[in-house]
Amino acid sequence: MKTVTSIEKRNSVKKDYNTIAEQYSEEFGKIYEDEDVINEFISKLKPNSKILDLGGGTGKLTDLFIKKGYEAICYDFSLEMMKKAKEFYPNIPYILDDMLNMEQHFKKNTFDGIIAFYSLFHIPREDINNVFASINKLLNEDGIFCFVVQLGDGEDFIDEPYLKENGKNVLYFNFFTKEQIEKLLKNNNFKKIYETEKEEIGEDELGEEGNNKIFVIAKKTKF
Ligand SMILES: C[S@@+](CC[C@H](N)C(=O)[O-])C[C@H]1O[C@@H](n2cnc3c(N)ncnc32)[C@H](O)[C@@H]1O
Repeated sequence: MKTVTSIEKRNSVKKDYNTIAEQYSEEFGKIYEDEDVINEFISKLKPNSKILDLGGGTGKLTDLFIKKGYEAICYDFSLEMMKKAKEFYPNIPYILDDMLNMEQHFKKNTFDGIIAFYSLFHIPREDINNVFASINKLLNEDGIFCFVVQLGDGEDFIDEPYLKENGKNVLYFNFFTKEQIEKLLKNNNFKKIYETEKEEIGEDELGEEGNNKIFVIAKKTKF
């Protein structure tokens, strides 16, 4: 891959989600996949927990958590995804910004749970450790962090069928090895408490071998 800076990668992801917001939200905007993992995450939360939905897109998880009686905030940097969220779930709180800036919006120890569903694989490789560190800071003692990423190695721009540039490999992905995930957790004081892998649907789009998705739930171990 030619040298692309972090800001270029993130700007391209933002532009891509602004472009595909309509189609993405039609297909995924309201349906709940991975209920098993979401229920597992919820089972580890205290009553009245405050949750941050990082890269929350159309806000469906934020809405689910609020309906279940939690306080929740959606956080995403795509204006068009936010517009869809406001259309589907007009009352959810929403912060429109890059995840890399999350510490500017919240004090330390603000959340009991942070979930990053299908969003951390768009964080540039050079920034991912900082994002884990920020998540740790924003979590309370014993706070719970849940995320899903794509297994693999390296970073790449891949084809996104919704984009007009279909076939031109434009959507930035950062793939994770299991070792990298373990290192990120350890470096940032998280203890893994749950893990499951699922086969990626439409794996042709993600290379010949296909890339399993890995779901992780971890607990903050240091205050
Ligand atoms: C595949 S969608 C997932 C949306 C939602 N979490 C879900 O499960 O349906 C990825 C989302 O992450 C957001 N995202 C990617 N990189 C981001 C960043 N650096 N800061 C904030 N949001 C980001 C995108 O705008 C997009 O809405």
